[in-house]
Amino acid sequence: MTALSVEGLEKTFDVHVLDDTQVVGLDGVSFDVREGEFLAVVGESGSGKSSLLKCLYRTYDPTAGSVRYYGAEDEETVDLASCGDRTVMGLRGDAIGYTSQFLDEIPRVPAVDVVARPLVEQGTPTEAARDRARELLDALSVPEALWDAYPATFSGGERQRVNLAQALAPDPDLLLLDEPTSALDPETRRDAIDLLETSLGDGTTVVGVFHDTDVVAAVADRVVVLDDGALEAVLPVEAFDGEVGR
Ligand SMILES: Nc1ncnc2c1ncn2[C@@H]1O[C@H](COP(=O)(O)OP(=O)(O)O)[C@@H](O)[C@H]1O
Ligand SMILES: [Mg+2]
Repeated sequence: MTALSVEGLEKTFDVHVLDDTQVVGLDGVSFDVREGEFLAVVGESGSGKSSLLKCLYRTYDPTAGSVRYYGAEDEETVDLASCGDRTVMGLRGDAIGYTSQFLDEIPRVPAVDVVARPLVEQGTPTEAARDRARELLDALSVPEALWDAYPATFSGGERQRVNLAQALAPDPDLLLLDEPTSALDPETRRDAIDLLETSLGDGTTVVGVFHDTDVVAAVADRVVVLDDGALEAVLPVEAFDGEVGR
């Protein structure tokens, strides 16, 4: 079953400081994602990886193309590239999760509540949501002393793990991860990979940007290679040799 069907996706930016020059972020990208699949997106810096994820999550409005999201069996298909904001917001609260590389700072909210928040918003009782949050923080080796502290004071790696735990907490159907392990040292990266491998339900579809070949080999089923905003290849992970670009 196809979970997501990306067709002719384009994103151009009007950059006013450059005399209204247009910068191409994505140049007509097409691929399918299967239900339950872990698809890794790789490519050189500036190749359009983050733009792709932001178009899927609708942080960016795509300039052209479509993103058919098939969702649950009995639900209607949605075009994530063009559906209304209300539909986007409904899916974000429930079906689709996203984590950027950096934690959006939430002042004066303890880490455990940052992670628990999406669950509470979905209706999970606060204490049950906090229990789940602690489980995830523990699995990611965030020291217990930090669980009730404010992430504003955390290191980059600690914030990134809070960020990842928050994205995993609601167990979304479609999870979009933008370099979720880039700030981690080898040991905590290992914990994050273990958690990605064990905590995701069989039905969870993941599109994740990674620059570390070892991580791609450990978690991905297939690999999308972007080059200068265009799709260079879609490969089974066994055929991916870590070479990105030329
Ligand atoms: N908000 C933006 N405004 C202008 N240009 C952007 C914006 N976001 C991305 N770009 C440009 O789009 C291209 C792809 O960027 P990005 O998607 O961030 O690549 P990657 O994540 O692979 O490093 C780059 O040339 C980048 O400068
Ligand atoms: Mg990026």
